[in-house]
Amino acid sequence: MYDVLSVREDFPVLKEVIYLDNAATTQTPVQAVSAMQDYFFKYAANHGRGAHRLARETTNHYEDARESVASFLNIDADKTIFTKNATESVNIISRGFPWKKGDHAIVTLVEHHSNLLPWMRLKDIGVEVTVIDVGQTGVVDPEQIRRSIKENTRLIAVNHVSNVFGSIQDIDKISKIAKKVGVKILIDGSQSAGNLSIDMKSLDPDFFVCPGHKGLLGPQGTGVLYIKEPDEIDPLFLGGGMVGSVTKDTFKMESSPAKFEAGTPNIPGAIGLGRAVEYVAELGVASIQKHEFKLAREAASRLNDIEGVDVYGPEKRAGVVPFNVTGMNAHDVAMILDQTRGICVRSGYHCAMPGIDNLGVNGTVRASFGLYNTEDELESLVKTVSDITALV
Ligand code: ALA
Repeated sequence: MYDVLSVREDFPVLKEVIYLDNAATTQTPVQAVSAMQDYFFKYAANHGRGAHRLARETTNHYEDARESVASFLNIDADKTIFTKNATESVNIISRGFPWKKGDHAIVTLVEHHSNLLPWMRLKDIGVEVTVIDVGQTGVVDPEQIRRSIKENTRLIAVNHVSNVFGSIQDIDKISKIAKKVGVKILIDGSQSAGNLSIDMKSLDPDFFVCPGHKGLLGPQGTGVLYIKEPDEIDPLFLGGGMVGSVTKDTFKMESSPAKFEAGTPNIPGAIGLGRAVEYVAELGVASIQKHEFKLAREAASRLNDIEGVDVYGPEKRAGVVPFNVTGMNAHDVAMILDQTRGICVRSGYHCAMPGIDNLGVNGTVRASFGLYNTEDELESLVKTVSDITALV
């Protein structure tokens, strides 16, 4: 039985506000904060760079954190790379992939900028980029992807869950389509890692990216990148920690994951993330998914019933509920929600302008539900939005 009230005890700020901005970033449980505090107060040192006891202890904790994340995602630890966010993870692939002039890449209109701009820039090096159109509910049609694949297509980059609509993409089908014709696939798990059960072994993506600070509940400034064939990708950053040997003229890189982690990494962040994913695993992703889906689907339906409110996205949604109040700017609605009832939602373009433009609006209010939200909080949201419609 999922005990949301006991979960809430691990997130002290929830006593102060109704936090419904989980698609932007989540709160971090005390257990993960405490693991970071232990690093600072008990053994802080650099990773992989010293023989003394604190350096050894730090290295062990950092690598244990990698093991925890890899085990949580069911991927190989030596292919699990710590980054600072999903954006950095996507940029490592878009920059390091062995492109040739005339290659072709496919993305969709319903990506957040992190999984769109790095591909758009490929046009500068002669790579053709197709941006697949999506319907009004933000659902990517796998058949449209199939039709867009050409002889020269090398890679498809697609979100698992849209941060704008909450739509859940059929990544199984899209992956199968890609694999059948030998096209690589990058899955952006920004809104799904920790929120949805993902069978990574059967999905077997070439690349998987996600932030550490959303569904995985880690601190901000953490992200994850999985690369199935790390030798095929050139690292984005060069420097200390990623080389085996260096002479005056040349250097020899370490293998993955060190190859992709030049410089001193976010050690406390990784350690916090490692503990956070253990926390998520203890609760169970299936239970979290059930809880978030239930709240979001009920909120969408109840908001939609209010006259003067438009809700966007498909009925079968993940935790994201975007809406607008007719005649009101989304930011004003968000401001009133906060100032009257302490309800924190995001408003505007959600770092995904093309997807919002496609709706024909200039922004939305977005309530995004997390593992610690309650029915009471949902009631407050619905009641306050209803009150706001009376102001118009
Ligand atoms: N992509 C993040 C969001 O959806 C920042 O809010």
